[in-house]
Amino acid sequence: MQTRVIILAAGEGKRMRSAIPKALHTLCGRAMAEWVMEAARGIDAHPVVVVGHGRDAVMAALDGRARFAVQESQRGTGHAVMAARDAIPESGAVVVAAADMPLLGSDTLEALAAGVTRDGFAAMALTAIAEDPAGYGRVLRDDRGDVAGIVEHRDATPAQREIREINTSVYCFRGDLLRSLLDRLTCDNDQGEYYLTDVIGLMVRAGHRVGALRCAPDEALGINDRAQLAQAEAALRRRINEAHMREGVRIIDPAATYIDAGVTIGGDTVVYPGNVLESGARIGSGVTLYPGNRISASRVGDGATIQSSVLVEAEVGNGATIGPFAYLRPGSKVGAGCRIGDFVELKNAVIGDGTKVPHLTYVGDAQIGERANIGCGVVFVNYDGHKKHRTTVGDGAFIGCNTNLVAPVTVGRGAYTAAGSTITEDVPEDALAIARCRQTNKDGWVRKHASRYEEDI
Ligand code: UD1
Ligand code: CA
Repeated sequence: MQTRVIILAAGEGKRMRSAIPKALHTLCGRAMAEWVMEAARGIDAHPVVVVGHGRDAVMAALDGRARFAVQESQRGTGHAVMAARDAIPESGAVVVAAADMPLLGSDTLEALAAGVTRDGFAAMALTAIAEDPAGYGRVLRDDRGDVAGIVEHRDATPAQREIREINTSVYCFRGDLLRSLLDRLTCDNDQGEYYLTDVIGLMVRAGHRVGALRCAPDEALGINDRAQLAQAEAALRRRINEAHMREGVRIIDPAATYIDAGVTIGGDTVVYPGNVLESGARIGSGVTLYPGNRISASRVGDGATIQSSVLVEAEVGNGATIGPFAYLRPGSKVGAGCRIGDFVELKNAVIGDGTKVPHLTYVGDAQIGERANIGCGVVFVNYDGHKKHRTTVGDGAFIGCNTNLVAPVTVGRGAYTAAGSTITEDVPEDALAIARCRQTNKDGWVRKHASRYEEDI
């Protein structure tokens, strides 16, 4: 039996007070709607997402991973499902979930669906016991414990408002019944909307059984504002960190470690507080991440050590040492055993194994060989105001402190540049290039000009 998934994401999410559609706010690097899609993946790898508010942005963000149904105007959750009617299978079941429940687990969704596909219920509602049920739809039960209906808070009687079991807005329905009953929904309620919850009552009145699956209250957390966003993200972060720790990663303080979904980390890596590992980071094993790194879409080799540094679309080889205060920008490739020290910026630069760039240096658009040494304060002068140019430095070269390498230029293997040189022409292998004025000392100059400076002394 085929089971499809429909995710409702057309609502405005006013309380987020944001120009970004609610479904696209990210938690641990992944959009809210994607968390729900991920939970539903075992049931339907290509769910139908109902879009409305900010739909172009939502469709662009989920392109290729979902199909879309457009709800032109938002006239309620029932109306949203009508927009996705074509996705409802005639023979089969359909799970409907809201896009704003990122903590939803895949096990929960699978158990919910099994209530329909295995146990013969016409529908299943996911419910939770709420500390404060105000605002939520309440679940009415019959003598058997089956669901008798769902009543919205604003339409509920005072006695019904005492009920603490709430509707989470996640369901599984038999497709044929949902299809036919959608036509019977009316907007005869306090908000004048088509309520999906009314389908439940209609099923019960037609003599069908509706079951309920209760989940933990935190799993049912729906995000309406930024405080709930932070709360849900903290829960997801805990889950992610715990999974890494189970796999052998040492996280010194999980509450102060920020790892996006999908980041990989090898065993025996140590992560100190204040590390931000963003989407696409792949960290090897035995790595030490001292405090204060941001590592985004970058690969870090086994045994590397990184401290107080920013890596964006960069690669770091095995055993390399980075930082403190290094900035590896896109296209930086640092070889094995390299040392990239403090206040070094790399951009689009390939650095061979064992090379040292220890301090205060900018390396842009360059290729540096193996075991080279780049002195303190070297600038790879790559930009002439119009175009970027490349610099090549050969294996074992020694670039003296405070050298400017004005690109395009090549320094041959084993060549030296004298400290303070501005190199504008290629340096042959094994040569020493000196490109600075010779020093002259003027004996007795200060005494001769003493009167001039007297008042300053
Ligand atoms: C809904 C339920 C309520 C439940 C609560 C849980 C109904 C009538 N009520 O109420 O029983 O306790 O969720 O949070 O269903 N959406 C659309 N199009 C619309 C309206 C909503 O796509 O026209 C989407 C929203 O983007 C959101 C979801 O449906 O993802 C829920 O909508 P929301 O307005 O938050 O429903 P509630 O009034 O909170
Ligand atoms: Ca809601």
